[in-house]
Amino acid sequence: MSGTAIIGLQWGDEAKGKVVDLLTDQNDVVVRYQGGANAGHTVVFGGEKYKLSLIPSGIFRPDVQSIIATGVVIDPKSLFDEIDSLTSRGILIAKNLMISDRAHLIFPWHKVEDAILDRSNGREAIGTTMRGIGPCYQDKVGRSLAIRVGDMYKSEFRNRVQHVATIKKQYIDRLICDLDKEIHLPEISTDFNIEQIIADYTGYADRMRQYVNDTTNYLLDAVDADKRVLFEGAQGSLLDIDHGTFPFVTSSNSSGTGICAGSGIPPQFIKKIIGVMKAYTTRVGGGPFPTELDNEIGDTIRKKGNEYGTVTKRPRRCGWFDAVAARYAARLSGVDSVGLMLLDVLSGHEILRICTSYNVNGREFNHFPSQTEDLRLAMPNYETLPGWEGDLTNIKNYNDLPSNAKYYIQRISELIGKKIEIISVGADREQTIFCR
Ligand code: GDP
Ligand code: IMO
Ligand code: MG
Repeated sequence: MSGTAIIGLQWGDEAKGKVVDLLTDQNDVVVRYQGGANAGHTVVFGGEKYKLSLIPSGIFRPDVQSIIATGVVIDPKSLFDEIDSLTSRGILIAKNLMISDRAHLIFPWHKVEDAILDRSNGREAIGTTMRGIGPCYQDKVGRSLAIRVGDMYKSEFRNRVQHVATIKKQYIDRLICDLDKEIHLPEISTDFNIEQIIADYTGYADRMRQYVNDTTNYLLDAVDADKRVLFEGAQGSLLDIDHGTFPFVTSSNSSGTGICAGSGIPPQFIKKIIGVMKAYTTRVGGGPFPTELDNEIGDTIRKKGNEYGTVTKRPRRCGWFDAVAARYAARLSGVDSVGLMLLDVLSGHEILRICTSYNVNGREFNHFPSQTEDLRLAMPNYETLPGWEGDLTNIKNYNDLPSNAKYYIQRISELIGKKIEIISVGADREQTIFCR
């Protein structure tokens, strides 16, 4: 089997969806293996734009098997809203979608916990997507209150939901009671109707049955049958729960380290890892961001790059390319080559800057700090490069790029120590330059 993985190298939204869609027709299987409906992956072709959250970005090729594997946390309502929306636009979702019976389920209480905990942690909010991701992973690791997809088909499902919902209700009521003194939580309600939740999830179970399978076993068989598998990372390496900018991270291993755990595929079958990054940097939510441009340049990039969250519509924070962070992410994720995306957005600047090291309390850092407090103090040292003019969005060949754009790409490649294999100059499938 040849496994290829697409991994974000920044703080998410690097255009992973576009790259997965581009490579799907060279594969037999596409696998989402971590995260949940916090992800928003965009695919554009034939004049149509699709936004995917839980469904793998390979779904547009009906002959390819799309899999939502074990490491994903599934909100069934989001899942079916997405399926309905895609189906209404003529996209086939039938046997070509498979969902792991081991994946964990998000329930309404997870979203309530997400909303309460993120605003009451005694420090800057993480600014989560409020999709219940962290609390669901918390329950998965804690085990006692977890409910998995396969549990929906067991006779004790009703009792299980009743039991967990009752405990969650007490816990959340207590949390609100304690916190109400400190923070105002007007829109939060613990008024769960347990019977309604059981009825809703019983309905979801019926509808989901056609897709549910033991995906780990399916993927191990795919390995034996020498199938080509494409792994679709969600979020980005710097949002990794263990190796990212903790606590301003997501709750899964969103760097290359998460591929095997989330899918069940042994590491030796991953033959190639393509890291995806923007030609600049963005971040949504809280946390340090050394190269952030909280000024007119940042506003220009946001406007031109349409940098607003796919899931939450929040304006994304924008900044210069950070080669220290990208080099760390590329090494951490074991990247073989890189897709450099949204290059077109940078046209029209007289100069461009790339961060090549940080100053932290008078000390030069060439590596990405392990402590968020250090990253917060980091003052970027920049290399200044000449910008370029003109519209890149119709360029098909590397040699036709402006020479300063080629120099910018070359410097990024040198600084992060990886070959650039794909250059993207627009959202559409066709607006892609392959550098062989
Ligand atoms: P993902 O989460 O990594 O899949 O990325 P998102 O879909 O959240 O964000 C990437 C955004 O950039 C989407 O709106 C894409 O349609 C868009 N996009 C992708 N590649 C390019 C590009 O080369 N140029 C421009 N201007 N937009 C792009
Ligand atoms: P894709 O796959 C960008 C961010 C949130 C928040 C932090 C934790 O589209 O690249 P969570 O809801 O996961 O607990 O939020 O992580 N975040 C993302 N940022 N792209 C994403 O996904 C993200 N998924 C989560 O904004 O800062
Ligand atoms: Mg996104």
